[in-house]
Amino acid sequence: MPRGEPESFYVRVGGEPTFRTLVHRFYEGVAQDPELRAMYPEEDLRPAAERLTLFLIQYWGGPSTYSDTRGHPRLRMRHAPFRVDAHARDLWLHHMAEAVRSLKLPEPDETELWQYLERAAHFMVNAE
Ligand code: HEM
Repeated sequence: MPRGEPESFYVRVGGEPTFRTLVHRFYEGVAQDPELRAMYPEEDLRPAAERLTLFLIQYWGGPSTYSDTRGHPRLRMRHAPFRVDAHARDLWLHHMAEAVRSLKLPEPDETELWQYLERAAHFMVNAE
């Protein structure tokens, strides 16, 4: 890395293994939550987990494998087929909060990650 270039958040928090652990723990929560689980169309949650992992890696400055394989994220559009109301958002955030805490990232990284996820989840709501 050239001198003086700021290290990406992605590298600072541990790169790919950190995001794999985050999403793995999140989906462990989803798998045990009948209401939220019912929103995911596929029997196998692993492909959905892989898509979220690759998206977060790309967002935080890692490789762009997500867009290379899925195209532009357009996340609100991709969530349009699902009824994301305030309740679904809160369930999603509940499991994500547990997953984020489990990483035990140093501050301010934990707060930065959490604030992004919280904002993104509010933005994804598409139903009353
Ligand atoms: C607010 C609550 C949310 C709910 C209930 C929800 C639910 C879902 C569901 C049911 C899917 C389809 C599963 C699949 O086949 O991939 C999905 C996909 C996805 N979600 Fe969410 N989501 C929420 C918030 C978010 C947030 C905040 C992000 C990003 C920070 C996100 C990122 C993604 C990504 C990357 C995909 C895969 C898109 C694709 O490439 O097809 N979701 N979500």
